[in-house]
Amino acid sequence: MTLEGKTALVTGAGRGIGRALAVGLAAEGANVVLVARSRDQLEETAALVSTAATVIPADLGDLAQVAAVAKQAGEVDILINNAAVPWPVGPTAELDPAEVAAAVNVNVTGVIALTVGLLPGMLARGWGRIVNLSSGAASIPTFMIGGNLYTTTKVAVEGHTVNLAAELAGTGVTANIYQPGTVDTSMQTWVREEAGARMDPRTRAFFTDAKDSGRLLTPEHSAGRLISRLAGEDNGQTWSAADPR
Ligand SMILES: NC(=O)c1ccc[n+]([C@@H]2O[C@H](COP(=O)([O-])OP(=O)(O)OC[C@H]3O[C@@H](n4cnc5c(N)ncnc54)[C@H](OP(=O)(O)O)[C@@H]3O)[C@@H](O)[C@H]2O)c1
Repeated sequence: MTLEGKTALVTGAGRGIGRALAVGLAAEGANVVLVARSRDQLEETAALVSTAATVIPADLGDLAQVAAVAKQAGEVDILINNAAVPWPVGPTAELDPAEVAAAVNVNVTGVIALTVGLLPGMLARGWGRIVNLSSGAASIPTFMIGGNLYTTTKVAVEGHTVNLAAELAGTGVTANIYQPGTVDTSMQTWVREEAGARMDPRTRAFFTDAKDSGRLLTPEHSAGRLISRLAGEDNGQTWSAADPR
């Protein structure tokens, strides 16, 4: 099985890991559908892609926009739910419930809603790949102190994915989790430089050390580790950038 001629929708494809995923998938011959809010960033990604690229600017925290994305995208074989927000951060007692709801909308509800929109077509065609981006924070929920919401949403995404995978067994459609490692993106910069002061000193030190010691992965490396698993038959697995080749 190759990815040649498949259509892959990547959310958060305007920058970071999502952009690298789109470029990498196109290099494997897939046509790509690029979704995020910033049209200019999506168009920059489209210009880097060697196959057909469709740009769909949308806010995945808005259910009406998610439904419109699914409709406009048409037949999608590969769905990579990559977009997410790292906020709000800080002590849980100080969280703004409206911000909590907005983050859950993007990180959890949007992920499930887009899957709901695209899954019927995959099932009808008897082949599909769904990969949901998570974080090491979901495997060690005590790690990001001051990042309760992010941890909560990634644990939720992982629960959704493994349950979905069990439901999909035998259909030709698979659902897997990807933990991308600590990657040099704007999210990582924001966590280190802006959010760090509102997080536990040990959590802040982890992110600062990762940068200072040169341990950050490139988006291209992390994206490549995901793409290398995509044509296989894994279902309900947690893939990690750290997995041996
Ligand atoms: N970087 C890391 O070290 C790391 C570690 C563990 C897990 N992850 C996970 O990896 C994924 C990608 O992270 P990244 O570091 O590449 O992040 P990033 O650089 O911040 O990029 C996030 C992408 O998501 C899009 N996005 C954010 N909110 C959106 C919304 N409401 N609607 C549509 N698109 C939205 C952004 O575009 P717009 O702002 O234009 O919408 C952008 O294209 C995320 O799921 C993240 O949680 C990253």
